Amino acid sequence: MRLPLDRHSDIPLYRQIEGFLRQGILSGSFAPETRLPATRTLARDLGLNRLTVETAYAELQADGLIYTRSGSGTYVLPRFQPAPVAHTSSDLAWPRWHHAEMRSVSAPTPDELLAAARQPHPLSLANGTGDPHLFPVKDFHKIMQTVIRRDGIAALEYGDPRGYAPLRRTIAHVLTSQGMAVHPDQILITSGSQQGLALVSQLLLKPGDEVLVETPTYAGALDLFRALNLSIVSVPLDAQGLQIERLEQRLQQRLIKLIYTMPTFQNPTGSCLSTPRRRQLLALADRYNVPILEDDFVGDLRYEGRAQPALKALDPGGHVIYASTFSKMLMPGLRVGFLVATGPIYDRLVNFKRASDLATSNLIQRAVEAYVTIGRYQAHLRRSCQIYRQRRDAMLTSIKRQLPASVQFNPPHGGLFVWLRLPAGLSSSELLPLACEAGVAFAPGRDFFPADSVEDNGLRLNFATQQPADIEEAIKRLGIALRRLR
Ligand SMILES: Cc1ncc(COP(=O)(O)O)c(C=O)c1O
Repeated sequence: MRLPLDRHSDIPLYRQIEGFLRQGILSGSFAPETRLPATRTLARDLGLNRLTVETAYAELQADGLIYTRSGSGTYVLPRFQPAPVAHTSSDLAWPRWHHAEMRSVSAPTPDELLAAARQPHPLSLANGTGDPHLFPVKDFHKIMQTVIRRDGIAALEYGDPRGYAPLRRTIAHVLTSQGMAVHPDQILITSGSQQGLALVSQLLLKPGDEVLVETPTYAGALDLFRALNLSIVSVPLDAQGLQIERLEQRLQQRLIKLIYTMPTFQNPTGSCLSTPRRRQLLALADRYNVPILEDDFVGDLRYEGRAQPALKALDPGGHVIYASTFSKMLMPGLRVGFLVATGPIYDRLVNFKRASDLATSNLIQRAVEAYVTIGRYQAHLRRSCQIYRQRRDAMLTSIKRQLPASVQFNPPHGGLFVWLRLPAGLSSSELLPLACEAGVAFAPGRDFFPADSVEDNGLRLNFATQQPADIEEAIKRLGIALRRLR
């Protein structure tokens, strides 16, 4: 392969190789299923270290442009839709500052791969949300009209940076009824909980600081921490959640500045941290003086068992900052989430929120408040739980029926996801294109790990977004793809 390299350029050689191949794939000059030269051969032809070529290939693979067939070689992914080249990070025509250490945003998502496979009835289990068909569109339309009629101009001004006071009172009331005694002045409304995570991380950490995550963990948090140039330290989960002994070792070895955790219906595994471990985690946070960022993104979507206390409910000492959202239990497009923080950190978060975006949409907050106050939210939640419970059961039944017993999983008691573990040696990244060919998409496990501890045999299935009959069909297709992989 002829590959133009500029050895005097500031752009590292692996980036140049990656850029050249990426451009070829996106423009269609490397057709789907084209076999790329082996890394050893290409490195030899170019007079480079093999690691340089492997790094370039790894970037392309992480972005879903190429894949490896074990024992056979590396290939361009099938039927990838060309994306506009100007949006790739390696378009060398732009001024150099456009490129600095930028991760590509052009990787096809599982749903794009599924669309590209052009199956007549594609089924996606890759989403991270509830079922959009259940969104209460008509009710919300009416509520918006009522709010504008009722509040007029006031609803369209900038609001209080802490958030609309009646909404903060309502949330405080709900949380208090769930055992977390909270005052409205300890609640900060954010533009989705993602903003809450960003505010906390930016306020408490600076580039290079160490943030501890459980693995696997929420891909959006990893993206955030990477974007902030934080150093990510990981501790694996087991069936009872974060492994406390391993956590303590990490706290002894490293200067951890923040622990990010999802104790309830974790994303992606659906697991819950046991109550004894919740207490141990808090004791460690106290002993090592480390703040905890608790992400409770689907806590109210419980289908069985008794609710466990949030970490924040067990924390009189102000070690925990709690983040939650209306995205998963209501609608993500609202962009309404909130933080609960006690002590001096609250005012610092408010100042930072004001500096970041002045305030969350006043109009939408008023609509959410009205929706919750008239009891619609609770009714919506009850209905969603009922439907999602049936879908979870349907998925668990299908998995047992359609997939080999060597595929392991723990039935989740709530949330949106089932996490499957393929037998050792099988890769969910390699399974994904085969699954899309068969007409089903899922979220591959590698997305939920930091770069230094990637495990690729897990995969996340969303059980909430498809009807039971489609779930059965989707899992059947997954079984077909799995047989092709083995
Ligand atoms: C675990 C978790 N936390 C936070 C978020 C952010 O959601 P939002 O900003 O919509 O509240 C998500 C979204 O997928 C999530 O899965």
